[in-house]
Amino acid sequence: MELAGATAVVTGAGSGIGRASALAFAAAGASVLVADIAEADGQETAQLIEKDGGKAAFTRVDVMSSDDLTRMLDEAEKTFGGVDVLHNNAGIVCGEPLWPDTDPATLMRQVTINLASVVVGTRLAVPYFERRGGGAVVNTASMASVLPLVDEPAYSATKAGVLMFTRTCAGMEGTHRIRVTAVLPGLVRTPLIDKSGDGTRPAAWVGMAEPFMKWQTPEQVADVVVDLARNGEGGEWRFVDDVPEPLRELMRAGMP
Ligand SMILES: NC(=O)c1ccc[n+]([C@@H]2O[C@H](COP(=O)([O-])OP(=O)(O)OC[C@H]3O[C@@H](n4cnc5c(N)ncnc54)[C@H](O)[C@@H]3O)[C@@H](O)[C@H]2O)c1
Repeated sequence: MELAGATAVVTGAGSGIGRASALAFAAAGASVLVADIAEADGQETAQLIEKDGGKAAFTRVDVMSSDDLTRMLDEAEKTFGGVDVLHNNAGIVCGEPLWPDTDPATLMRQVTINLASVVVGTRLAVPYFERRGGGAVVNTASMASVLPLVDEPAYSATKAGVLMFTRTCAGMEGTHRIRVTAVLPGLVRTPLIDKSGDGTRPAAWVGMAEPFMKWQTPEQVADVVVDLARNGEGGEWRFVDDVPEPLRELMRAGMP
């Protein structure tokens, strides 16, 4: 897909990976609808894009609401003429207290934000893509899609769900000219890392994962996202870096 002149919608674009992805799509010549529940952060991302000479607009969206998701897609079409790329990226960790002491309402939010919004967002985007003759969805999954995160089992479950949803949508490339792909970041330095603990510091599991994983930057993840939107095949999923052998072994074993 040619990104110059295309329109990309990025959820969770006020921070971290979503912000880097929004900036990368804009740098590739796409107009970007920055969607986030956090207004000041989202507006800042749109301003950063405009400062660099790109085209962007911000819309406040709670991805838990299908009405908000529809409004978001409508806004992209109205403002920029259509929707070519949807990056389903908004996601949360529950943080402390960790499983099984997690607040049930927070778990419900996590399942809805991390998984339901990806499924429903993709579904809602179909007619918008069809009006453009096709499109690309990139979903932010995680290495936790394939490695159980024992302190946040619902996080792993939702990310495994995102991966399987992506793989299951592979055939949409043939039937609808819609390529659904996923990126599986490892440990990425974003505000989410402190949210894994008490909000001011990471949970202990981050320290336990560090020896096995190289830290990734949001920009590295964004490069993969943009390439998947451009060239990814339906159902394709990619890690960001080479996966170290001890982790490959864990994945093969399928157990923590
Ligand atoms: N940081 C990592 O190490 C890492 C690793 C693998 C996957 N991921 C995934 O990457 C994605 C982005 O995470 P990040 O690290 O950039 O986190 P982040 O906390 O920096 O950014 C997440 C953004 O999503 C927004 N958001 C949260 N709930 C929302 C809602 N209901 N509606 C709209 N927006 C909402 C937040 O306001 C925030 O701007 C998530 O799906 C996360 O699970 C992160």
